[in-house]
Amino acid sequence: MGVLEDLFDVRDQVALVTGGASGLGYAFASILADCGATVIVADWNGERLEKELRGLSSRGRVAGYPLDVTDAPAVRACVDSIVAEYKSIDIAFANAGVARGRPPLLPEGWLDDMSMTDYNALIDVNLHGVVYTVQAAARHMKRQRSGSIITTASTAGLRNDPFTPYSYAIAKAGVVNFTKQAAHDLARWNVRVNAIAPGPFKTNLGGGGPMPPEAEARWNSVIPLGRMGDPAEIRGLALLLASPAGSFMTGGVYPIDGGALLQGPSLPPAG
Ligand SMILES: NC(=O)c1ccc[n+]([C@@H]2O[C@H](COP(=O)([O-])OP(=O)(O)OC[C@H]3O[C@@H](n4cnc5c(N)ncnc54)[C@H](O)[C@@H]3O)[C@@H](O)[C@H]2O)c1
Repeated sequence: MGVLEDLFDVRDQVALVTGGASGLGYAFASILADCGATVIVADWNGERLEKELRGLSSRGRVAGYPLDVTDAPAVRACVDSIVAEYKSIDIAFANAGVARGRPPLLPEGWLDDMSMTDYNALIDVNLHGVVYTVQAAARHMKRQRSGSIITTASTAGLRNDPFTPYSYAIAKAGVVNFTKQAAHDLARWNVRVNAIAPGPFKTNLGGGGPMPPEAEARWNSVIPLGRMGDPAEIRGLALLLASPAGSFMTGGVYPIDGGALLQGPSLPPAG
């Protein structure tokens, strides 16, 4: 095998991807399948899961698992069943997430307007769902004394973001620090934990369907590269963190955002 194949070799690995039936999760699942891992795609949208599995199955060893990540016993049962069937869990992407509510930039997005129903529902998926997934995977990885866990945070968890609802920013900040806490704890068992912090990507997060042009233009205007990301552009970072190439990486939070975290006013287009 060549040096590149060795560095990024995930062929004997068993991977779980939550929220894998769409967007970034689908990109994580597809790169792992393309590189020969066994991938279990878990998602609460059964219809979408079935549809996407048909395409993914032609690319590698893939199985689907209907799962709501807010149901802690169900998450644990999912991971236990993976280990029972495939003998290990080597890679876990705690990725499932939703968007709810309005950002402070828009009317009804101010602090006074925050709906606690929306807030609780979002925290349940985007923060508690991540904790349950990491906890369930770590139990087995500790016993194995190996594993790579990747959480999906957000640039919205790293600084204020007027484009993002309060609940979402709070949940993602929680994911960032939870990832670091778990990385420090689990390093004793040779289990690595890192977060990917995406900026704006074109996915179904807003509910699906094409984004209104004015919303896309607003995002584009705050991204130095001038455009939103394509989910396929996250595959390289995902594979780096999952594979032997990332063997000394733990506790990191890796932005992938077209420069959105950079400071300074928008610059005029280049001539
Ligand atoms: N798209 C972006 O711009 C962006 C930016 C930063 C972070 N993220 C994060 O990336 C992750 C993936 O989102 P995406 O943009 O690919 O969105 P998406 O809507 O395309 O995909 C999310 C997937 O998660 C699934 N899901 C939602 N709630 C679930 C639950 N309770 N249990 C199981 N599955 C569930 C959905 O059915 C869907 O298939 C999320 O954590 C999101 O917060 C996205």
